[in-house]
Amino acid sequence: MADAYILGIESSCDETTAAVVRSGEEIVSNVVFSQFATHQPYGGVVPELASREHLRAIVPVVRKALTDAGQTYQSIDALAVTQGPGLAGALLVGISYAKALAFALDKPLIAVNHLEGHIHAVLLEERQKGNRELNFPVLALVVSGGHTHLYLAEQTSQVWSYRNIGHTRDDAAGEAFDKVAKLLGLGYPGGPIIDKLSVHGNPLAVNFPPSQIKHRDRKAAGQPEPELPRFDFSYSGIKTAVLRYVEAQNLHDSIAKRRAALSDVEQPKTDDVLASCDSQTLDLVASFQRAMVEDLIGKTLAAARAYDVATLFVTGGVAANNQLRRRFEEEAGMQGLPVYFPSRPLSTDNAAMIAAAAYPKFLAQDFAAMDFSAEAGMVLK
Ligand code: KG4
Ligand code: ZN
Repeated sequence: MADAYILGIESSCDETTAAVVRSGEEIVSNVVFSQFATHQPYGGVVPELASREHLRAIVPVVRKALTDAGQTYQSIDALAVTQGPGLAGALLVGISYAKALAFALDKPLIAVNHLEGHIHAVLLEERQKGNRELNFPVLALVVSGGHTHLYLAEQTSQVWSYRNIGHTRDDAAGEAFDKVAKLLGLGYPGGPIIDKLSVHGNPLAVNFPPSQIKHRDRKAAGQPEPELPRFDFSYSGIKTAVLRYVEAQNLHDSIAKRRAALSDVEQPKTDDVLASCDSQTLDLVASFQRAMVEDLIGKTLAAARAYDVATLFVTGGVAANNQLRRRFEEEAGMQGLPVYFPSRPLSTDNAAMIAAAAYPKFLAQDFAAMDFSAEAGMVLK
């Protein structure tokens, strides 16, 4: 089988990214333009601004991905683009551009689910390292700013299929990191900042109890009981618990001071944020992170035991978290369960994962019809 070079395009949230991947196993180029500076003053992604920034960045980002790869528009074999889930207006920028290119170049176009992309980030890098052995069943935790989902992943010949066995009932884990950072005036995006600050605090200082999920809700609502055991998450409670702690401990003044100090710095670095935090705030941040990490690990490993899986993937933006990686390795290791993460650059949004997820579809000639559109709430099956 000849090599296939796929140009991937991803614009579902606040990163405009394009990549060239060879045959689903080698990243030839991966260009990521982060809109972080645009959204930072708002403490979160502003959808209209995201679309505008994607429009500005998409052409140079795609050109750079081709140049870095030593490829041209004509030399690539196919295009792949994220169809959803994500922000509708943001997705549409990537989709419209990919469609126009595919039409003009007369190349096949493949529509990819963003969550499948995160799962294939792991597979891509393992193949790149020469690791082709993969024991099924595979359980994948996709944990990002928009998702906290558990999937059982299967592969039959080339085709991958997925069964959801858990998701967040409210906030995604990354969203909780971002909202707590915003509440405490630490900046945006919250995950990487909290990750770096947490090493300076006592993770046992504040006790956040694990979230309680009632798994019989559906039955009570008169619906049939789900046939598969579920392992859902919930992170809106811990956000409220942090807010209550701030109120009870009267931290508002110190938060206001931090906001004022950091607003004077153009692009605050970790040391700037650290200098603006007292030990009580650092303890709070470390305790919050510990509670998040232990909850994610506890539920994921319970699901892994229930489904007797052979391999665990942890992927998505929050998978970049240092404590999450270390604790997953310790706990999964104790269960004799191999756990794989993408490298940090491939944990957060990137187009290499989209081009990699497209490769099995390319082999199966599973191409998108030209009239497909963005699916903001797209489900992974
Ligand atoms: O996968 P991603 O780039 O975009 C989505 O699909 O949502 O994930 C972004 C999310 C943000 O919520 C960000 O705060 C979080 O991932 N994140 C982290 C870390 N790095 C990024 N959360 C915890 N620790 C990190 N080191
Ligand atoms: Zn993502």
